[in-house]
Amino acid sequence: MDFFDVVKQRGSYRDEFLPVEVPDEDLKAILDAGVRAPSGYNGQTVSFIAVRDAKLRQQIAELLPTPATKTAPVILVVASEPNDHGSMNFEMVDYGAATENLMLAITACGCAGVWMDGMVRSGDMSAKLAKLLHVSEGKTIRTIVPFGKPAKPVSQKEKKPLGERAKIL
Ligand SMILES: Cc1cc2nc3c(=O)[nH]c(=O)nc-3n(C[C@H](O)[C@H](O)[C@H](O)COP(=O)(O)O)c2cc1C
Repeated sequence: MDFFDVVKQRGSYRDEFLPVEVPDEDLKAILDAGVRAPSGYNGQTVSFIAVRDAKLRQQIAELLPTPATKTAPVILVVASEPNDHGSMNFEMVDYGAATENLMLAITACGCAGVWMDGMVRSGDMSAKLAKLLHVSEGKTIRTIVPFGKPAKPVSQKEKKPLGERAKIL
């Protein structure tokens, strides 16, 4: 798929997924897109877990019950670690760059998913997920991304006109 078509076709998909597996090569390509994201000083402190195991997926869905988490064949988990250079902290920006790479790669593979950062921030959800997945101390789970082949149409939310948000000088 053309890169700019991928950008336009990506949309947050929160509904059910078809009961089909994501091929290994697609999953590897999606994770590879995540690790290839830029990071401050090339710190590369963002890490990924692809949860395919049915029991673990069910346990995640019990913590965060949505149609997407209950039916996704894969739930990606994105964790970050500090990436500090003097007074500059790149951890959150690095995590955002890596996660957008994942979202675009998911779209390019004909799949869809949703970046669930807000829901992972609520209460002690991030810590609960870290405990379930045995994520080492020092890493913080920032989001999960349930994804797969969508059972319903995917659409991107309407964006403000380009001229309101960008200018060419
Ligand atoms: C940092 C961030 C946090 C988000 N958290 C959630 C979330 O917790 N739950 C959810 O359903 N969508 C979440 N989203 C998806 C946004 O709601 C979505 O990107 C936005 O509504 C625009 O829609 P679009 O992705 O289709 O363009 C999040 C997106 C970002 C970038």
